[in-house]
This record gives sequence, C-alpha cells and structure tokens, in this order.
Amino acid sequence: MTHQELLIRWLKNTYSLELVVIETLTEHLKKARGYPAIQLGIKKHLEMANAQAGRLEGCIKRLENPVKKEGDGLGKSAELLASAEKAKGDQIVRDMVVDFGLGCLEIASYKTLISLALHFGDQETVSVCKKFLDQEKNIAKTLDKTLPTVIQEYIHRENPNED
Ligand SMILES: [Fe+2]
Repeated sequence: MTHQELLIRWLKNTYSLELVVIETLTEHLKKARGYPAIQLGIKKHLEMANAQAGRLEGCIKRLENPVKKEGDGLGKSAELLASAEKAKGDQIVRDMVVDFGLGCLEIASYKTLISLALHFGDQETVSVCKKFLDQEKNIAKTLDKTLPTVIQEYIHRENPNED
C-alpha cells in the first residue's frame, strides 16, 4: 500500500466515522427532549460533524479521482459503540457516554490522519485535520464537564425523593 493509499484509507475511515456521529447525534437530539442544554450541545456538535464530513470528502476527492467506495473498520467500530445505547431506562446518560466515546474515537482518528498527512507531505489535509482535532478536543472537554451534571440531573429527575 502506498503512502497516498494509506492516507486516503484513513480519510475514508474518519469520513465514515463522522457519518456515524451524524446519524447517532441526530437520534440523540430527538431523545434529549426536556434537556435543552444537552440539545443545544448536540446541535453544535451536529453542525460541526456535518462541516467536517464535507471537508473530509473534499480531501478524499482531491487525492483520489474518481472516488472509490471502500469498506472500513472504523465506521463499524463507531456503529458498535453507538449500538451500546439500545438499552432503555437511563437513556440520556447512555447517550452522553456514547457521544463521549465517539468523540475520543474522533480525536484518535484526527491524530492518526495528521501524522499520515505530515509523512505524505499533504499540508492541506494536515491543516484541515488540525482544525478538526481542536474542535473535537473542545467537544470532549465540554462533555467531560457536562457528564457529571447530566448524571446528577438524571438521578434527581428519576428519583427526586431519594436524596
Ligand atoms: Fe467530528
């Protein structure tokens, strides 16, 4: 596999990961009714994921002409993670955990892409992915801060008399 093929493969892996993130967040947005702060966070994350997917598609098109469809392992990992949410009950907490997990997968993917693109000498992909890495880190930081609050809110709503 050439360096360019490897870079394209990882761009596609990360692109498919973003598509899973978009699909998962769209579902989580519907289920977060009654939690306006969470919905706002999900909307921002969704907007970002859509923009990232669009730019990644552009990077793939620039490097690979015509674009070939390929299976990928990362999208499958993300789908597996997203499927962890199927259980009922503590849905809002589960969704937050899944979103956090997907964010960590995205951070690792963008770090990988930056290293590959640096090695390949593709400055455009490096700068696009550095920007996205910063965005993902910000989302992860926000989720890191928000998660304990959501859990407290959930516990209080579900069992208001058990404090
Ligand atoms: Fe993303």
